[in-house]
Amino acid sequence: MINTNTYPIICLATLVILGALASQASSRSFHEASMRGKHEQWMDRYGRVYKDADEKNKRFKIFKKNVKHIESFNQANEKPYKLAVNKFADLTNEEFKASRNGLKLHARSQTTASFRFENVTAVSASLDWRVEGAVTPVKDQGQCGCCWAFSAVAATEGITKLKTGKLVSLSEQELVDCDGIGGNQGCEGGLMDNAFLFIQQNDGISSEASYPYQGVDGFCNINMVAYSTATISGYEDVPANSETALLKAVARQPVSVAIDAGGNDFQFYSSGVFTGQCGTDLDHGVTVVGYGTSMDGIDYWLVKNSWGTRWGEEGYVRMQRGANTVGGLCGIAMQASYPIA
Ligand SMILES: *[C@@H]1O[C@H](CO)[C@@H](O)[C@H](O)[C@H]1NC(C)=O
Repeated sequence: MINTNTYPIICLATLVILGALASQASSRSFHEASMRGKHEQWMDRYGRVYKDADEKNKRFKIFKKNVKHIESFNQANEKPYKLAVNKFADLTNEEFKASRNGLKLHARSQTTASFRFENVTAVSASLDWRVEGAVTPVKDQGQCGCCWAFSAVAATEGITKLKTGKLVSLSEQELVDCDGIGGNQGCEGGLMDNAFLFIQQNDGISSEASYPYQGVDGFCNINMVAYSTATISGYEDVPANSETALLKAVARQPVSVAIDAGGNDFQFYSSGVFTGQCGTDLDHGVTVVGYGTSMDGIDYWLVKNSWGTRWGEEGYVRMQRGANTVGGLCGIAMQASYPIA
């Protein structure tokens, strides 16, 4: 009679011996091989295909460098956030910045003077607009630098829900294809304020379903203008460099903000409260959809990003609030604005 219980034990023992032999043979080549294996697994997971062996080798080197950085960062455990080997793991920081962001700073229109929330006083200790049903699922801008459209759309989805009671996913592609206001340039970049102005002047914006996202610049489908799903009457800027003012606004509705998202740690952020490093070279548009305080006592902004759900906390990042830097962490309070409906 065969005693099946012994098989697992034998197998385990064999593996341990083989493992020991391999590490004795050459620990350096062993690590190289395991890193190659990791890269293969990662390519499978994210469906990455390289055009030839040279490209693969080049990408592997970048991947290896990134993985080493991520692992040593997490081991050091010095910050309240973690990094992960995510879908950006084979990109250098320069490549990442060039393809993902797309906020055109020089194009900012004149800031608006009025701030309707200046006298807001009663603000709860924490707030999550997702719980109020005012936030659509996380989207993915892909290779197109139209963060500005995703940011403006998320804020418009929010105010539309608050005004009409209905949450409808709205069309970034319409902005990419049709909005040339103030130098907005589709996948080549733009600004949220210009997008709000476009939505106002265009008598609204289509739904995502009727004008779906393509992730590339396209011709404006003018038939869609007749199918506006959401309208706004304008927009206002939050007084610059005041997280207090930003809090008043976020307490009332989701708010578009510009941030410096170009840092290496931001690229690989996976969880926790992000505390930097980052500068204030605003290069990315996102949407603040809440705020709160973490278990370990750090105040944060709850930020909806547009890099899919496999980045950060299911597509969100909690960014330190009240970081004691002018303009807030990564410049989050420098260029905040919201649509009015
Ligand atoms: C805020 O309060 C002041 C003083 O009462 C008032 O003059 C001002 O118009 C208020 N601002 C807004 C936006 O309601």
